[in-house]
Amino acid sequence: MRQPLVAGNWKMNGSRAGIAELLSGLKAGIGQVTAAEVAVCAPAIYISDVQQQLEGSAFKWGGQDVSVHTSGAYTGEIAGPMLRDFGCHFVIVGHSERRAYHAESDELVAQKFAAAWAAGLVPILCLGETLDEREQGATESVVARQLDAVIAQCGIDTVGEGVIAYEPVWAIGTGRTASLDQAQQVHAFIRGRLAQSNQSVADGLRILYGGSMNPKNAADLLAQPDIDGGLIGGASLKSDDFLAVCAAASD
Ligand code: 13P
Repeated sequence: MRQPLVAGNWKMNGSRAGIAELLSGLKAGIGQVTAAEVAVCAPAIYISDVQQQLEGSAFKWGGQDVSVHTSGAYTGEIAGPMLRDFGCHFVIVGHSERRAYHAESDELVAQKFAAAWAAGLVPILCLGETLDEREQGATESVVARQLDAVIAQCGIDTVGEGVIAYEPVWAIGTGRTASLDQAQQVHAFIRGRLAQSNQSVADGLRILYGGSMNPKNAADLLAQPDIDGGLIGGASLKSDDFLAVCAAASD
């Protein structure tokens, strides 16, 4: 049985004061959440504040990106061991916004997955097609290419120690959620692709859905057999909304 995971991705949002308020709201409501694993992925500069407030709570936390290097002359980068130093459990790799705006290739994302894992972090690997790719019928080939690059770089057993998030780019921040069938179909495809390398990894690996998941649609999405949780953007910025999604994953 795969334990559901709900992870918030705050992206580049918030202020020190706003995040303090959000965290106290989350801590106050966490009692409702029992069965799911829950986490927030914060902008790097706020991770120390997040650690101070969430230490000892049921929440885990993480970063939104990681360098492929462990240290050295890489101005502006954050290394995996630095994230671990501040108690991070997770790190997102290959988010579509990084692929699109920072030209992250499948190979670079695979190297980031390896670096995160080597630092003791649990990488959350994002996969997903653009609207154009979906309309051309390329959804499965895009997702397979993105996944295969990581399997080739890290090996299937290491991939099995991470988490996958299917995030159709056209559903991110648009209010346009994938239909239950569309989401389930791609999740099942990803699991099938993993099974070609290792059936037990495929059975155990959590595949989260991301893309306009919110308190209204979470329960239906999470009821799909291959959807094991959510990677939540907009709805993770309000404690009540995020807690409602976490509660839906705990049912
Ligand atoms: P939204 O929930 O705002 O669509 O964002 C999804 C996402 O990109 C999470 O990583």
